[in-house]
Amino acid sequence: MSYFIDGAAPEAERRQATAAPARTTPEQLRQQLDADMQASGGASPTPPGVPGAIGSTMFDLPGSEDNSVTVLLAQDKINLAPSQMLVRIHSRDGRRYLGIVAAGPFAEPDSLRGDSHMLVTVATRGGEYLPPFHGRAQLAILGEELKDGTLVPPRLRPLPNSPIVPLSDAEAAVVLRTEGDIRLGLVVGHENLVVNVPSQKKSVLPRHLAILGTTGSGKSTTVARLIQQAQAAGMAVIVLDVEGEYTHLHEPTDHDDMVLALKERGLEPTALPPDRTRLYHLAGRETINPQHPHVQAFSLQFARLSPYAAMEILGLSDSEAQQVRFLKAYDIAKDVMRDLDIFPQKNVTAQQRAEQERIVLELDEFERGYPRLTLSFLIDIASACLAKADRAGRDGKKNKTEEPPTEEFKPFNSILTTPEGKRALTIRLNATDMPGNVISWKALLGKLWRLQRLRVFYNEQDGVKPMSYTDLLKPGQVSILDLSDSGASELNNLVIADILRGVQDAQDHAYQAYEKTKDQKLEATLPRVLIVIEEAHEFLSAERIDKLKILFEQVARIAKRGRKRYLGLAFVTQLPAHLPRQVLGLVNSFILHKLTDPHVLDGLKRTVSGIDPALWNRVAGLAPGQAIVSFPHMTRPLLVAIDPTPGKLRLAE
Ligand SMILES: Nc1ncnc2c1ncn2[C@@H]1O[C@H](COP(=O)(O)OP(=O)(O)OP(=O)(O)O)[C@@H](O)[C@H]1O
Ligand SMILES: [Mg+2]
Repeated sequence: MSYFIDGAAPEAERRQATAAPARTTPEQLRQQLDADMQASGGASPTPPGVPGAIGSTMFDLPGSEDNSVTVLLAQDKINLAPSQMLVRIHSRDGRRYLGIVAAGPFAEPDSLRGDSHMLVTVATRGGEYLPPFHGRAQLAILGEELKDGTLVPPRLRPLPNSPIVPLSDAEAAVVLRTEGDIRLGLVVGHENLVVNVPSQKKSVLPRHLAILGTTGSGKSTTVARLIQQAQAAGMAVIVLDVEGEYTHLHEPTDHDDMVLALKERGLEPTALPPDRTRLYHLAGRETINPQHPHVQAFSLQFARLSPYAAMEILGLSDSEAQQVRFLKAYDIAKDVMRDLDIFPQKNVTAQQRAEQERIVLELDEFERGYPRLTLSFLIDIASACLAKADRAGRDGKKNKTEEPPTEEFKPFNSILTTPEGKRALTIRLNATDMPGNVISWKALLGKLWRLQRLRVFYNEQDGVKPMSYTDLLKPGQVSILDLSDSGASELNNLVIADILRGVQDAQDHAYQAYEKTKDQKLEATLPRVLIVIEEAHEFLSAERIDKLKILFEQVARIAKRGRKRYLGLAFVTQLPAHLPRQVLGLVNSFILHKLTDPHVLDGLKRTVSGIDPALWNRVAGLAPGQAIVSFPHMTRPLLVAIDPTPGKLRLAE
């Protein structure tokens, strides 16, 4: 036989071929090839025995690996085994195995190499010759299927030449355990296999979710879908909306592509029920959608903020002098508040008093601040400290002050100008060793002032009420916190810290009340909570984590308790590399949209388990809306075409 072999073709023949490419394969060559194929066994036969079989397992090779087996498919069956198709292997020893197409199907010519010179030449010269071929696919073995249908880790391997039969979508859904009441989308490779998330299971959403992907990869669309579905499943959803993207979700989408894409799946544009949706914005800040039917401003409570977290947010981490002074002022403020009956109060019932004393006694200042302490009160106290330090410096003595410094000291809180107020302050200022150094006090006050000027903390004059966390926790309620006008990530951090703490406390109360009584009625109202943190890298960045240790520890604690109290966090970011490893360590579920940065992918490969290499290879090339979805309730991670958003997204174009 004389196939063309590089360099072996006679010079004249080669020149002729270059000058006039063969349009048709010479008849003689065709016959010769066919004869060769026949001689080596002909086209692969239809697999034996089992009805519906589309192929059979191949013999193993030295490179074969556990939990993976190669299958061969007849030419006309290749399309029946697309990527992610589930198949049952009827092993010749009577055992049954289930597998999923993890790589391929690849088309390989029978008895020739696909890259043989002959085939390459024929193809590149416009030849029409198509030799008989077969399919090859790599199956990941999901397990051995026992007689009663349970799936167990395989002890053996399917024998060679065992037939494989594809599973129906309904059977595949059972095997892949994609059931749940929150619909995410369709598995790629199946006609109609829906991936859902169960909102009831404490082992799924309360063990936290990360939605990652480059810009434009479909994160917000996925989040919008998740919000709508979680609401419909009766969860309480809280969205920290950094860009104001979700401020129109109470209207159905009118985006042409989305409407069309929804229709293709038999879905309709749907709005969130407007009466179950509330749009919040910070005191003194705008919302991007003032037309929303339920807009509400909220303020933050300084008292909720741990003094240690406050120091981090104020940027005191680098200055021990300022930290010492901050804590000094904080302690004096607490004492003065007690003296003036602000907290704990005297004019209450004995029981209430005892309760307040207990709160003070059990207060963990790494968790929260002193009850009822306002920022303006702390500023008043720090100003008094400054005045005292200033006076002591000028008079050259550090001894007692007769009364609070009057000229320099003009408090906001009128209670400090009353005789009792002055007395309490004087006593407390004198009772302590006041650190001197006016410059440090001034620097601290400057920072406290800067925070005060944000005007987001509750004070009686402005009257914007603090957030009511119990409102956020109503089942089926969606609360969008529009932070688009906050202007500073410092402010977003404050809000996020406040909301996480507040929600966790309210959730704890609800659960404690239930646990005391075990009342069935109360159980029905226990909220399942999902908190979505958009642009999570801004809040929890690896660079910042050293400076925001306390805040991070709070998040970590909330995350760890989340499972007990059904509180799930969903971190959304386009820059997963900026998220500290510890954050991803808290997360058990992933929706990975397109990601291209090899470093990011390497990091994720170490974090997210169970995704095989062929699936990882696809992450960089995913289309918008496609994602690899990995949840603990599912048998294995799957490539999913996420459902389009039913509600209106502000930035969707
Ligand atoms: N599930 C989907 N089905 C169909 N199209 C989608 C889907 N998800 C995203 N798209 C398309 O991709 C575009 C970008 O999606 P989206 O705004 O959700 O991405 P993103 O990751 O949030 O981007 P950014 O980082 O800019 O916020 C959408 O406008 C839409 O055209
Ligand atoms: Mg987005």
